[in-house]
Amino acid sequence: MWVRTASERDLQEINRLLVTTWHDTYDGIYGVDKVNEITGTWHAVPVLKQRLTQPNSEFVVVDTGEKICAMAFASTQDGKLIDLHQLYVLPEVQGQGAGGQLLDEIKVCFPEAKRIRLEVEETNQKAVAFYERKGFVETGRTANCGEPGSGLPALIFELALD
Ligand SMILES: CC(C)(COP(=O)(O)OP(=O)(O)OC[C@H]1O[C@@H](n2cnc3c(N)ncnc32)[C@H](O)[C@@H]1OP(=O)(O)O)[C@@H](O)C(=O)NCCC(=O)NCCS
Repeated sequence: MWVRTASERDLQEINRLLVTTWHDTYDGIYGVDKVNEITGTWHAVPVLKQRLTQPNSEFVVVDTGEKICAMAFASTQDGKLIDLHQLYVLPEVQGQGAGGQLLDEIKVCFPEAKRIRLEVEETNQKAVAFYERKGFVETGRTANCGEPGSGLPALIFELALD
């Protein structure tokens, strides 16, 4: 497995990865219909495509040589605070190091950064356990995870970087 920057030809596969992983992770939390609604908008290929050229951002994937098994997207406004918007590993590949590899890559991509921030659904125990294992601490809450007006509550986690 190696980490590389995402390209336009990866976008269909990344879309499928997100749809699969979102259903696996969130059907039991948000319900299937809500997950279909979100993945149909947030993860549509044209939306993902805009992220390839967003300034001060990194869009990276883990490639097994046969398929893309994980993706992450992060950005910064001031270079000091990294917002980790997405970190998703295919269900059958979780627990094999891909998430940790992507987190390490994001840190390397923003060498001036002092902190990483992200939003995580409170009952998403797998993700909460992963971030706590990586040293993140809860610093607050949001009523609108993902984008303004989403209405999805979440915890805010932060990690201080050396
Ligand atoms: C959460 C997620 C990104 C973690 O990625 P992963 O590839 O499964 O995790 P890794 O194999 O890299 O694990 C890294 C470390 O976290 C620990 N960890 C991972 N999952 C864990 C769990 N469920 N419980 C406890 N510890 C866990 C591992 O033991 C490992 O510890 P180590 O570094 O000491 O060996 C991945 O499971 C995922 O995509 N989940 C579903 C989608 C999701 O919730 N994304 C986050 C949205 S905010």
